[in-house]
Amino acid sequence: MTRRLTGFQPTGHLHLGNLVGAMRPLVRAQERPETTHSIAMIADLHALTVEHDPDRLRANTLQVATVLLAAGVDPRRTAVIANSQVPEHTELHYLLESATGYGEAARMIQFKEKSAAGKSGVRLSLLTYPVLMAADILVHDSEQVPVGDDQSQHLELARTISARFNARYGDTFTVPEGIRPESAARIMDLADPTRKMSKSTPSAAGRIGLLDPPEVIRRTIARAVTDTVGVVRDDPDGQPGVTNLLAVLRACADREPGSFTSYGALKREVTDAVEAVLAPIRARYAELSEDPGHVRQILAEGSARVRPRAAETVRRTRAALGLLD
Ligand code: ADP
Ligand code: TRP
Repeated sequence: MTRRLTGFQPTGHLHLGNLVGAMRPLVRAQERPETTHSIAMIADLHALTVEHDPDRLRANTLQVATVLLAAGVDPRRTAVIANSQVPEHTELHYLLESATGYGEAARMIQFKEKSAAGKSGVRLSLLTYPVLMAADILVHDSEQVPVGDDQSQHLELARTISARFNARYGDTFTVPEGIRPESAARIMDLADPTRKMSKSTPSAAGRIGLLDPPEVIRRTIARAVTDTVGVVRDDPDGQPGVTNLLAVLRACADREPGSFTSYGALKREVTDAVEAVLAPIRARYAELSEDPGHVRQILAEGSARVRPRAAETVRRTRAALGLLD
């Protein structure tokens, strides 16, 4: 049995790429509980590393939890937690800060980008962000962590910190392994198919939000960039837009697309397939949203479930470092 941790930032709206690349694998893993045990973690503590609005953070955290449930994450099989609600994350974070070099953290590309010269109000927690992420992973003895390209450097740091800690203070942590979502599952931006669909792209023109109303979905797909070739086929270099629409169709319809005589016909079929996947998620989301207390309860139960193991990891770490119990 493999322990897996999937992290979600509670910022911005989740999109079709997140569904295909992160949530579906989580839901599929539930079908084989004897092989994989997953934790779905919302990194609300990480949202504090940049300027944020408290009301919006609260709303976003609940929204992500609700979308996860609406998309099929079953809290009886997958623990759904927010890292702020499991205090062992912050305790281990501090202990790991004392096992990480300043230079190691300052070298991280994401830190360098977000703290680049001229940016004011850079928070100290932005520097230690990857150490908190390492704590998120290590505290649960996670063996596998699905990460996209932008997080692979952080995952490497978690591996370095844990392996070095084990060598210096004795076997304490499971050294985690990064796993990548299959490249076939990569959904590109519909307005700029050379970049991946991402919630951090400022323009929403190429993004399909999981809670977008049908009209918005239809419009986004109708405006998707294609080309002047006029033939529907996979050609990632020559026809990235059309290739991406085919990828979306495969991901949503779960079968090989037939042949199309026009881009319009392709787009109509993509629209129907996306709508067929998102309509039930939207409906379930609306139902769950009527009772936010229920979603909070699920988060509380998730925390209660994972805390014994997390507390044991912290206990081991404290002892290894020479702190009194
Ligand atoms: P974003 O780029 O929107 O900020 P994240 O980097 O937070 O997305 O990714 C969260 C999860 O969703 C990761 O597991 C990542 O692999 C997956 N994911 C994000 N964007 C895509 C995409 N366009 N296609 C497939 N999977 C994606
Ligand atoms: N930093 C991750 C991101 O930007 C979110 C995250 C925080 C995470 N802690 C994690 C992901 C632990 C995986 C494991 O997407």
